[in-house]
Amino acid sequence: MDTEKAAYVAEELDAYAHWLAAPNPSANASFLALTLFAECGNAARIARDTVSAFLRGVITGDVVYDARLAVSELVANVVNHSVPDSHRSRPGGSRRMDVTFKLFPKWLFIGVTDEDSTPPLLPMGDALCPELVGELTEAVVPDSGRGLMITQRMAAAVWWTAEESGGKTVWCRFDLDDN
Ligand SMILES: Nc1ncnc2c1ncn2[C@@H]1O[C@H](COP(=O)(O)OP(=O)(O)O)[C@@H](O)[C@H]1O
Ligand SMILES: [Mg+2]
Repeated sequence: MDTEKAAYVAEELDAYAHWLAAPNPSANASFLALTLFAECGNAARIARDTVSAFLRGVITGDVVYDARLAVSELVANVVNHSVPDSHRSRPGGSRRMDVTFKLFPKWLFIGVTDEDSTPPLLPMGDALCPELVGELTEAVVPDSGRGLMITQRMAAAVWWTAEESGGKTVWCRFDLDDN
């Protein structure tokens, strides 16, 4: 492995170790969890505003806008697509989601947990054939599947994990080295 690749792998593993770590607020890390209900009517806006409030005075620049957009897409997906696992759904009940923020000097992790064990459909690589990109873009980008594609472009990584008791969390990571 060349040095550059080795450094990249070491960085990714370091990020992964921090993401896995249990919340332990120290001088260098802060955590926030926000519970929302999909039926509340303004879940995406509350999540976006929470990003701004959480990062205010700590992180500035494009990453704040990118993180606001990403959390909006992930929360909107719970509102639009999540169907709670049968043992957790109640007739007329509200669908719960938990938005988790983990902030370290080098990374911001955002996770959105819902009650639906169905995985999100994450785009694999480039969905667009390069020859078709250009004036035709609007016509060839599929109507659905844009949100996670945009999130992948904004964030350093997007992935999901299954929750032990059912449901899942869709995660994204922003690298803050430039801040
Ligand atoms: N939280 C979720 N729960 C269940 N399915 C999801 C969730 N998020 C995404 N999906 C699935 O992944 C697909 C792609 O999501 P996305 O890229 O945001 O596109 P869109 O929301 O426009 O359909 C969705 O159409 C849906 O089938
Ligand atoms: Mg979407």
